[in-house]
Amino acid sequence: MFDKKNLEAVDVNGDVPVTEPERQYYYMKKCRQWAEEETIRAGHSLTMSIQTLGCQMNAKDSEKMTAILEYIGYEETNEPVADFVLYNTCTVRENANLKIYGRLGYLKNHKKKNPAMKIAICGCMMQEADEVEKIRKSYPFVDLVFGTHNIYKLAELLYTQIQSERRIMDVWEEAKEIVEDLPGKRKYPFKTGVNIMFGCNNFCSYCIVPYVRGRERSREPEDILEEIRGLVADGVVEIMLLGQNVNSYGKTLKNPMTFAELLRKVNEIEGLQRIRFMTSHPKDLSGELIEAMKDCEKVCTHLHLPLQSGSSVILEKMNRKYTKEKYLELVEQIREKMPDISLTTDIIVGFPGETEEDFEETLDVVRKVRYDSAYTFIYSKRTGTPAAAMENQVPEEVVKERFARLLKEIQTISAEITDSRVSQTVPVLMEEINEQDDRLITGRLSNNAVVHVPGDADLIGKILPVRLEESKGFYYMGQVMNDE
Ligand code: 5AD
Ligand code: SF4
Repeated sequence: MFDKKNLEAVDVNGDVPVTEPERQYYYMKKCRQWAEEETIRAGHSLTMSIQTLGCQMNAKDSEKMTAILEYIGYEETNEPVADFVLYNTCTVRENANLKIYGRLGYLKNHKKKNPAMKIAICGCMMQEADEVEKIRKSYPFVDLVFGTHNIYKLAELLYTQIQSERRIMDVWEEAKEIVEDLPGKRKYPFKTGVNIMFGCNNFCSYCIVPYVRGRERSREPEDILEEIRGLVADGVVEIMLLGQNVNSYGKTLKNPMTFAELLRKVNEIEGLQRIRFMTSHPKDLSGELIEAMKDCEKVCTHLHLPLQSGSSVILEKMNRKYTKEKYLELVEQIREKMPDISLTTDIIVGFPGETEEDFEETLDVVRKVRYDSAYTFIYSKRTGTPAAAMENQVPEEVVKERFARLLKEIQTISAEITDSRVSQTVPVLMEEINEQDDRLITGRLSNNAVVHVPGDADLIGKILPVRLEESKGFYYMGQVMNDE
C-alpha cells in the first residue's frame, strides 16, 4: 500500500534508486522541486488538465497519474487548457483516435502563446506504431509520449523531459513488472476501481486490446486485498474490480487462484459495502463464480456480460469461443441462482459478413435475455486485427439501419424493466450533485441504475433507502425514505 512516509524517506541528493517504486518516489520529489521554482517563474500555481477517453482501466490509470502530478504540484482543472495537458487515449474504435487529433490541433495555438505548457499523450493509442509516427512527424509540440505499460514512470519521464528540454517518446512493446505502492487519487472519495489484472489473451478477432494492453497478468491477491483494506479505512464503501477479462483472474499467478475465490475474500473485508466487477467473458464464467456471486452479499445485483453478436456464425468469426445457445444457457443458469440480477451487455453491429439473418439472431438474444441496458457499437476496423482483413465488410447504410433497429429494441425493453421496479424501496449509494439541477442528488442502485432524489451534499457517500417514485425510461426519480 502507498505510504507517504516511504516517499518522504527517499533522498533526492543521493543516487537514483534502481528499484521501484523508490525510483519513482525519487523522480516525484525531483519534479516537485522543479515545480516549486516553475510556480515562482510563472507567477501562478501550476494547473493540470487530464482528459481520459475509453474504459474503466483508463479511468483508473488517470487516477494514478493525477496523484503523481498532484504530488509534484499541479492543481487539477476542468478546463481543456492548462500548464500540463495529458490525454489518456483509447483506440478500441477509430473515432476515439480522431477525437485526439482534433483536440491536439486546438492545443497547438495555446502552446504557441505559452511555450512552458507541457502536452503529454499516453494510453492505448500510443501502443500503435502508426499513431506514434504520426505524432512524431506532424505534432512536434507534444512533449511526452508513452504507452499503457509505463504510466507508473510519469514522474521519471517528465523529469527527463524537463532536464533535456527534448521531447520524450517512450513506448514499451511489452509490460514489465507490476509496480505496487504508488499513490492514487480518487475521483469519488467513497468509490473507486481496483485493478486485479492487466492485459488480455483472448484475441477476439475485431479487438485491438490484446495488442495494446499486452498479455494477461494478475496481481497477487494479497496486494489487492491490502489495497482494498486501505481504501476502506480511507472511506471507500464501493469498489469495482477491474480487468479486461476478470473471469480468468489468477491463472498466471505462482499460486493460481480463481476469480470466485478472490471475490469471496474481498467480500470478507469489514466496512466494505459494495463490490462490482468488469468485464466478464462468457466463455470463462464458471458455475463456481455464480455460486460465489450468490453467496457474497456485498456483490452487486448486476452482471455485465458482453454478447457481441447473437449469431453463432459471427461469434465463431469473432473468436468468442461460445455459441448463441451456450450464451443463453449461461444466462439461464445465472438467472436461476440470482433471479433479481440485472444483466447488461456490449453488442457490435456490422461485423464483416454479418447478414440480415445473423443480425436477427442478435435481436432474438436481446429479446430473450431482456438486458437492463446495453452498449451498442458500430463495428470499427482496427488495423492489425484479423477482422480487418476479412471480406464482406458490411455497407455503412446497412449497418446504420441495423444499429437503429437494435437501439430501439434495447430501449423499449430497458424502459419496461425500469418501469417494473417503480414503487420499490431499494438501497442507493448517493454519488454526486445532479449536473442539471443542484437540488437533486444522483445515486446508484445495486443494479447500477441511476436515480435522482431531492437532497443536499450531506447525503453523498451514504447508502440510503430510496423509494423509486417514477421511471424516466432508463433512470428514476426517487425519494429518500428517512427513518432517522
Ligand atoms: N469495433 C466496434 N466495437 C468494438 N469493441 C471492441 N473492439 C471493437 C471494434 N473493433 C467493443 C466490444 C467491447 C467493447 C469494450 O468495445 O463490444 O466489449
Ligand atoms: Fe478485446 Fe475480447 Fe479481450 Fe475483451 S476479451 S479486451 S473484446 S480481445
